[in-house]
Amino acid sequence: MVAKEDFLGRDVVSIDDFSVDEINYILELAREIKDNPAQFRDSMNGRMMSPLFFEPSTRTSSSFQAAILQMGGRVLDFDVHASSIKKGETLRDTLRTIQGYGSDVVVIRHNKDGSARFAADVLEVPVINAGDGQNQHPTQTLLDLFTIKEIRGEIGNAKIAIAGDLKYGRTAHSLAIALARYKNCEVFFISPDSLKMPSDLLHKLREMGCCFSEHSLEEFKKVIENCDIVYVTRVQRERFPEGPEGEQEYKKVVERYHLKMDMLENVRPEFKVMHPLPKVNEIEAVIDNTKYAYYFQQAKNGLFIRKALLFLIMGGQDG
Ligand code: NCD
Repeated sequence: MVAKEDFLGRDVVSIDDFSVDEINYILELAREIKDNPAQFRDSMNGRMMSPLFFEPSTRTSSSFQAAILQMGGRVLDFDVHASSIKKGETLRDTLRTIQGYGSDVVVIRHNKDGSARFAADVLEVPVINAGDGQNQHPTQTLLDLFTIKEIRGEIGNAKIAIAGDLKYGRTAHSLAIALARYKNCEVFFISPDSLKMPSDLLHKLREMGCCFSEHSLEEFKKVIENCDIVYVTRVQRERFPEGPEGEQEYKKVVERYHLKMDMLENVRPEFKVMHPLPKVNEIEAVIDNTKYAYYFQQAKNGLFIRKALLFLIMGGQDG
């Protein structure tokens, strides 16, 4: 049996930090918060969150801030880009300093794989990974799972296509690992040849007994006709090698990779398109206004998941 005390003071670095029962507990609390926001209004009184975003963010950063503010907590207004990091201060020294000013939780996004683990090792206060390089984005995965459950009523038995940049996309990596732990999920990876899931991750999925298959962009339409959901991701331009070769490689893949309206003509009536956002040009704009688009509801769900996590990790009191 999972209890709310089990989460007190814990780091959230990888989706593997949680058992399936713990994930389900978080999803249920997020559902309660979504249905009864007033009950949690003052639950974070006196708590302070320090967001350290070394990479751009709209949804993750704003929803974390909205989450703690709406529960009565505070945010340390720390702008990495106007900080002494620019003078060459190390991440370790910055983290220690911020902790010293009374942070109850640190939320970090950084372009380096393993940076959240590093922060968790340096700090005594809990650390939440808001995306570390191309590695993981566990809170995005929690909101993705919440959304899949909202769409289908359950996560198990889902047929989900994950499309796009599976090489560099951290949201795709953590989601695939999470889905592998739910019963009878079938995962279809669709990507350009050069952006396939990393082989170590495929190896891990195989070891976990995950039922998955890999597909080319040419099979995109056919594959999603057999799925409940397609999870589309952006080509992670910023993670391509610098210089003309990287630029050329990016252009080559990005031109060929689009989800178009006519590709949805034979999908199931209840089919949905998810996307962690931001989307650039990988989804044809008309899809936004169809019953298939679910990405803005998905983004909104980030608020409830982040409220649930902050509440559990900092031992919030609900009314
Ligand atoms: C994602 C990320 O940062 O990995 N964004 C997000 O947090 N919703 C996806 C992306 O940037 O493509």
